[in-house]
Amino acid sequence: MYNDYVALTYHASLLADEYRVRAFQTAIESVVRPGDVVADIGCGTGILTLFACRAGARHVYAIDDGPIIELAKLILRQNGYAEQVTCIDRPSHQAALPEPVDVIVSETIGNYGAEERIVPTLWDACRRWLKPEGRVIPRALELYCAPVTWPEPEPALTVWRQPVCGFDVSPGVPFAISQQYARRLRPEHLLAEGQCYSRLLLTPEALAGPAPPKVTGTAVFQVNRPAVMHGVGGWFRAALTASVGITTDPAGSQTSWGHLCLPIAEPIRVETGDEVAISLTSVGGGSLLRWEVTWRGAGGATRIFRHSDFEGWLATPERLRPLAEDAAPGLSSKGQAQLFSLTKLDAGWTIGQVARGLHERFADQFPTLEDALVYVKGQALKFARS
Ligand SMILES: C[S@@+](CC[C@H](N)C(=O)[O-])C[C@H]1O[C@@H](n2cnc3c(N)ncnc32)[C@H](O)[C@@H]1O
Repeated sequence: MYNDYVALTYHASLLADEYRVRAFQTAIESVVRPGDVVADIGCGTGILTLFACRAGARHVYAIDDGPIIELAKLILRQNGYAEQVTCIDRPSHQAALPEPVDVIVSETIGNYGAEERIVPTLWDACRRWLKPEGRVIPRALELYCAPVTWPEPEPALTVWRQPVCGFDVSPGVPFAISQQYARRLRPEHLLAEGQCYSRLLLTPEALAGPAPPKVTGTAVFQVNRPAVMHGVGGWFRAALTASVGITTDPAGSQTSWGHLCLPIAEPIRVETGDEVAISLTSVGGGSLLRWEVTWRGAGGATRIFRHSDFEGWLATPERLRPLAEDAAPGLSSKGQAQLFSLTKLDAGWTIGQVARGLHERFADQFPTLEDALVYVKGQALKFARS
């Protein structure tokens, strides 16, 4: 299935990133003590769980809400650790552990650092699971940004600005400039030295507050050469322990992470000494961003660009209308088909019976029985009891 393919190729790239894997190995070996109970949040293939087991953990709770956890179970069994590990296939905030843990480890660090929601995830897990003297890997995250010239001509942005076979596709522009792009930056793309705009302590003490720390900050730059500024670049440094860290600094070696690239509405010509102020604020625990870029040229010219992921959603008024609080939109035929299949699965119908029912009632969506079978199996994979 497509999602499994995506998960497998993604996790293969993570395992192949020796810099990342070795750093976590060193950190886990120095933090996990024999007899410890460990939670690995976002265990993926189980590689960090394996390190914890080999370091002497008495038990590890390996948690992942993606299909990759099925592979983690096989890999753990293959390496003789199945008995020592409990795999939990759900989001950590929905998971309950039967005992408190000594160590929480989580590699849910995104391209700019926070978009995989590591901050609220660790905040929640520390409060519910960690022993009073417990330890967390990573213990801090520093988020960096700089004004950048875009790595290559960027078709994802430029395509909307020119006609395609004579047709005007410019309605795509406002959406395209309000997206986070993952690209690979090199030092020559930076128009000023990168600066840390947010330092996030992830120690149990720092996460003891009533809400997760906010991911937000501003940095002001002096442009160091004439160039075209396309937007903002972002990366991170993570302190896994007091002495082990990882960074995706563009000047460092290539890693499995991409760099965050945030566009501005129009690329602008900048000169040495121009000032660029960048403010970044994450919403939704880190997954969404608002960014504001203020350019001040030497002659007093100023441009302000304000963007957010919200503006990048293809949320036309027609699409949003059914979401109004007083709307009672009912279900589309697609919704009816899903309701039918889940209701019948829940009532104990077999996969074949549900598929035949779908094929008969929703022939426009499932013209063949095979189409219906593929659909029902997908639903069962996601929602069946076991
Ligand atoms: C970057 S991968 C890391 C995988 C593995 N730990 C490693 O180091 O190779 C992050 C994984 O975390 C999972 N994940 C992210 N947030 C999660 C959460 N709150 N609860 C459970 N799984 C989560 C994702 O499904 C993904 O498989």
